[in-house]
Amino acid sequence: MARAVLPLTVLALCIVAFGLSSTANAAIGRKMVGVYELNKGDFSIRVTNWGATLMSVVLPDSKGNLADVVLGYDTVAEYVNGTAYFGGLIGRVANRIANARFTLDGKTYRLFRNDGNNSLHGGHRGFSKVIWTVKEHIGGGASPCITLYYHSFDGEQGFPGDLDVYVTYELSSPYVLAVRMNATARGKATPVNLAHHAYWNLGGHGSGSVLAETVQLFASRYTPVDAALVPTGRLAPVAGTPYDFRAPATVGARVGVPGGVSAGYDTNYAVDGVGVGGEGQRRLRPVAAVRDGATGRAMELWADQPGVQFYTSNGLGGVRGKGGKVYDRYGALCLETQGFPDAVNHPSFPSQIVRPGKVYEHNMVLKFSSF
Ligand SMILES: *[C@@H]1O[C@H](CO)[C@@H](O)[C@H](O)[C@H]1NC(C)=O
Ligand SMILES: *[C@@H]1O[C@H](CO)[C@@H](O)[C@H](O)[C@H]1NC(C)=O
Ligand SMILES: *[C@@H]1O[C@H](CO)[C@@H](O)[C@H](O)[C@H]1NC(C)=O
Repeated sequence: MARAVLPLTVLALCIVAFGLSSTANAAIGRKMVGVYELNKGDFSIRVTNWGATLMSVVLPDSKGNLADVVLGYDTVAEYVNGTAYFGGLIGRVANRIANARFTLDGKTYRLFRNDGNNSLHGGHRGFSKVIWTVKEHIGGGASPCITLYYHSFDGEQGFPGDLDVYVTYELSSPYVLAVRMNATARGKATPVNLAHHAYWNLGGHGSGSVLAETVQLFASRYTPVDAALVPTGRLAPVAGTPYDFRAPATVGARVGVPGGVSAGYDTNYAVDGVGVGGEGQRRLRPVAAVRDGATGRAMELWADQPGVQFYTSNGLGGVRGKGGKVYDRYGALCLETQGFPDAVNHPSFPSQIVRPGKVYEHNMVLKFSSF
């Protein structure tokens, strides 16, 4: 297979230029940041090795009109600045860790508090805010793909042990995007919970709210949270609650109405058929299906993780994105497949601990179509 096709845009961004930690300078100061395209007919994506970020996903609607269905920015510099995690690869541990601390094998580790008292999405500078190495890029042909690699060092953002992390994006026909992640622990046991943080709007990024899009979630239970948005440890049935998306429902049907949710969804669901306790996690399961009636675009998500965080961009407001479009609350939805939030502090949740030499794997398949 061909290797290292030249990036479309080599931005020659040096990490020093962004005033980041001097400890990392020696190792990554010479790394180049670029934007890489994968094209398969009228289906294409762009990826940057800044945060292994998915910058765009362009595909046709039922009439053949092309649109980019993920929120984001035109330039990598704006991703460096951004705070919404648009399209980013989240790690070492996605979602919240209560009180930014955990105990593993008798040792207590303290993390950065970047969400009240909690650690969120890997800390101040998680995997979505570092430069990854492009290992392979095949821009066209039958299976365009890009593989990115990141070495996370022992103690980075407070986490124990070196970790070798890979993510591959691959296009296949018809309109299938696969995201494959793995991470190998070196030397010490560590929690690992990677998540992909694309903000989907099947009507096209910047086309307005997703409240009218239809969502189905293949999940009968969810993990209720406390006031700090950390799971209580309970698994509750969705039946009879506004969290029930077992039958397709519009995103907005139960938002801001009596008996509904007040300000959108930011909720982890337990995906049906993925065994608690680590069994069955290798098998792809249907996680979610999304349909946009206005354009006839549809998306199916399959994955092999215990959970999926359903987030309806409740915190977005006035963000200037691609093409000058402004993104507001409910301007997109995220379906972040992952382990359960704060699993490291809940022995009853499926374990996210990776022992030295062991491999964490996470596979997602996104199937697009029109109706
Ligand atoms: C980064 O953020 C600052 C403060 O919000 C803003 O003034 C600046 O224009 C931003 N830079 C980029 C490249 O977006
Ligand atoms: C953080 O924890 C302290 C001590 O328990 C508590 O007083 C404070 O309210 C917490 N802050 C937030 C934002 O939850
Ligand atoms: C992780 O993924 C990379 C890229 O696909 C692959 O080369 C490597 O063999 C994988 N590692 C393991 C331990 O599976």
